[in-house]
Amino acid sequence: MPVEFISATFLNASTELKPIPGASIDPDYLERYARNLDDYAFNYTLVPYDSSYFDPWTVGATIASHTRNLKIIIAVRPNTLYPTVAAKALATLDQLSRGRAVVHFIAGGSDVEQAREGDFLTKEQRYSRLEEYIRILKRAWSSPEPFDWEGEHYRFKGFRNLVRPVNGHSIPVSVGGSSEDAYRVGGSLADIFGLWGEPLKETKEQIDKIYAAADKAGRAPTDRPRIWVTFRPIVAPTDDLAWEKAHRTLAALEANAAQKQSIFGGVKAGKAGDADVPPPQNVGSQRLLDIAKRGEVQDRALWYPTVTATNARGASTALVGSYQTVVDSILDYVKLGCELISIRGYDNLNDAIDYGRYILPKVRENLPAESSSADTKPAAENGTNGTNGTTLASR
Ligand SMILES: Cc1cc2nc3c(=O)[nH]c(=O)nc-3n(C[C@H](O)[C@H](O)[C@H](O)COP(=O)(O)O)c2cc1C
Repeated sequence: MPVEFISATFLNASTELKPIPGASIDPDYLERYARNLDDYAFNYTLVPYDSSYFDPWTVGATIASHTRNLKIIIAVRPNTLYPTVAAKALATLDQLSRGRAVVHFIAGGSDVEQAREGDFLTKEQRYSRLEEYIRILKRAWSSPEPFDWEGEHYRFKGFRNLVRPVNGHSIPVSVGGSSEDAYRVGGSLADIFGLWGEPLKETKEQIDKIYAAADKAGRAPTDRPRIWVTFRPIVAPTDDLAWEKAHRTLAALEANAAQKQSIFGGVKAGKAGDADVPPPQNVGSQRLLDIAKRGEVQDRALWYPTVTATNARGASTALVGSYQTVVDSILDYVKLGCELISIRGYDNLNDAIDYGRYILPKVRENLPAESSSADTKPAAENGTNGTNGTTLASR
């Protein structure tokens, strides 16, 4: 399978380095950001979910209307939408975007965050619900006949779906997490399994567990979930310049954490270890914080102070170095079996453009023989001037 690149969606000029508290959507910014991803041949953008944040469905549809190739990954927490409604919403987006919808499922990593939108199940129950939810969606997408459902979490009668995915049977399903329950549910049912960037050894251990869960569920080795791994690269023309930038980035993150600027995914903002900053409940964040205690740099260029500074709030491990160092680091993960490489920076739009110019093409040029990328020609650099005839964002 080809190696593909994922970014995340940003709706306005607010960044973790220069937060704009309470910023609303800037439609022009969103359009420019999405078109740049498309033009520089990113394959996907994730539209994240948080109880306090913008609606991913309308944002996803807007991105679809501004882009031509970019696939849109909608993050969905099962507690927020009845499964038959989610099945139709995803198939609707798939049709509107001509087959570019993907769903990323989040069981919910924090009891406090889940309670904000009326969900009081335990984490174990949330994963059990997620499993049932995915099964319902798959049935709804593929079943030509009306069907009933009698499950532990959902019960309905005579549901008939006239809104089918473009391929007639399914939309790619991704699951993220690092707990045993996540491996079990994702390993048995997901097309894609999302991880945060850990050192090579730990990443390999997680991949083995996901594959073991897939095998246990009776999936063939050719049908295992594709592995998605997420980093926050800090790049520059030389290693020295990149490290200077990394320390400037860390200073800004620490200053903003001290002001407790944001809450995302239920992990309280602030520096890990501060008295008023409780440890995160989700295993993925706990793992990042544990590994951070072993040292600042792991492997070639995986940098952990950004993890501690943000209490491992979401994907927070950086890859620091020259373009070449970061390309080589990404290729290390490709050799391990990671096919979906998620990279987003801290200076969101400019970093995405830097990656599009200096990282994506070089990774694609240097892929091992068995991996070749589907979309390797950035419209931004082949003279077609972008997907929609727009000019590229200037620095
Ligand atoms: C690639 C990736 C993307 C994620 N996106 C979100 C998100 O948009 N919103 C959110 O609340 N959690 C997000 N998460 C967090 C986990 O899905 C969440 O913490 C999980 O439900 C429980 O994690 P655990 O199994 O590691 O304990 C993401 C995780 C990964 C790996």
